[in-house]
Amino acid sequence: MQSSEPQPGNFPYVITISSEKGGVGKTTLATNLAIFLKAMNDDIPVSIFSFDNHFTIDKMFTIRPQQAGTVADLITGTKGTDLLQTGQYGVNFIHSSANLTKEKSLIKSPMDIARAIALSDIPGILIIDTRPDLETLTENALYAADRVLIPVKDMPSLENCKNIFALFDKRGLDKKSLVLLPCLIDERIKFDGMFVDQKTLLRAFAINRGYKCHDVFISKSPKVESLNTNPDGKIYPILTHGRGTDVHGQFVALAQEILKEYKSTKEPRSLLFHQWMSSETQREKDAFVARMGGTRKDCLFCGKEILGTDTKSAGYYFETADGSQAGFLESDCFLKLLSASVFNMKGEVRYDDPTFMLLVESARKSFFAFRVIEENSKNRVEFRRLDNGGNLLTGRTIDFLENAGSAPGGRSCPLFTFASESLSGYDGSFRDSFVLVQPVNPENPEDILQKEHYRGFASMKAKAAATFI
Ligand SMILES: Nc1ncnc2c1ncn2[C@@H]1O[C@H](COP(=O)(O)OP(=O)(O)O)[C@@H](O)[C@H]1O
Ligand SMILES: [Mg+2]
Repeated sequence: MQSSEPQPGNFPYVITISSEKGGVGKTTLATNLAIFLKAMNDDIPVSIFSFDNHFTIDKMFTIRPQQAGTVADLITGTKGTDLLQTGQYGVNFIHSSANLTKEKSLIKSPMDIARAIALSDIPGILIIDTRPDLETLTENALYAADRVLIPVKDMPSLENCKNIFALFDKRGLDKKSLVLLPCLIDERIKFDGMFVDQKTLLRAFAINRGYKCHDVFISKSPKVESLNTNPDGKIYPILTHGRGTDVHGQFVALAQEILKEYKSTKEPRSLLFHQWMSSETQREKDAFVARMGGTRKDCLFCGKEILGTDTKSAGYYFETADGSQAGFLESDCFLKLLSASVFNMKGEVRYDDPTFMLLVESARKSFFAFRVIEENSKNRVEFRRLDNGGNLLTGRTIDFLENAGSAPGGRSCPLFTFASESLSGYDGSFRDSFVLVQPVNPENPEDILQKEHYRGFASMKAKAAATFI
């Protein structure tokens, strides 16, 4: 899919609230910002979830008993819209989870949540509240964000910001999305001199360090503080219960700014991420088709068609280190090569022979590499057997069977057939390369050419190459 094509589905504008410090007003900011955004522009869907386990979001927004899963399910692959609940004040939310330890262990990259969000179909604006540390989920939430709001209330919390900035540097992310927001500012505190108050001082320090700082700040207000401490155990929003406070007006100003940013963002990161994923998928498909095209589909030994038939006789995949030859081998054909040339088993193969049975079993768990070398003007084969981790199990030099070579009967040596079909070079010589063989699933041999598996094969090539030095 080309990136210019319209993408079906919804792609939210993501705001992540993050700070390594606890108690700086993250959750208050996340929840109330959601409410103000919705109240000030009813047409825009607003959703929220938290990776923290304090259940503030659940307490504030739940209308009905829980009917869907939690953020844990978002991590493990449930579509975002299937988890969204309609909540109070018109804000949609995903239920929090008491413990995400298990789910966190499944996170493989800082892009996993970005992927989940790109596939979530969540519309409008999505706010993510995070835990007060830069753990995997916070890192993921930062990666997914169009806008990161970092509440700072004092010098220590400002000091801590550098870790978020450093993380963005490490990941090569655009730091333009990071904005500090002075929170819990006590307006009664005044200083002499140039920096007249807390917010001016914090802002000056922030700018001096190259951080962007919001024009809006949030004051500390006893009224706001009281909103989550009351006899009914509820958490009230500033919108309805903090009217007349400075904080109320400050949230209006902040929400206005955010709505402006939202409206001017034509391509939120979730959309761009989705486009990137689609093009990656397409690239993978193209690469797979190209690999298939360059792979022979008949067994190099017996000439029988292996792919596209229902014989399910494919047992092994081979590819030369230089990539010029690749194909599938019938299981029996390759085992015959191993038994005759590598394990010196004489005569016809007997399938009930215990040695042969052992060979069959161990071959399913091994990788094999062959390289032709010249020794005293005689061609010999360096043989390597590696385990799944790429560790060398066997390494020795073996000979072609007696009558191998250019003699009329030479083709009766399977090793010679294999080497000459895969590694032959100019004018009867052998190339300075090797051929690597790996067992495949006969049910689905082409699987080896799919992204992950092929990557595994390629890395095994490097490990095999190292054993030939
Ligand atoms: N503007 C404010 N004025 C007064 N108290 C506030 C304000 N914002 C948050 N608080 C209080 O500060 C404490 C920490 O806020 P919270 O939003 O939970 O921070 P965090 O999520 O960063 O830990 C809470 O008790 C909250 O009620
Ligand atoms: Mg919090």
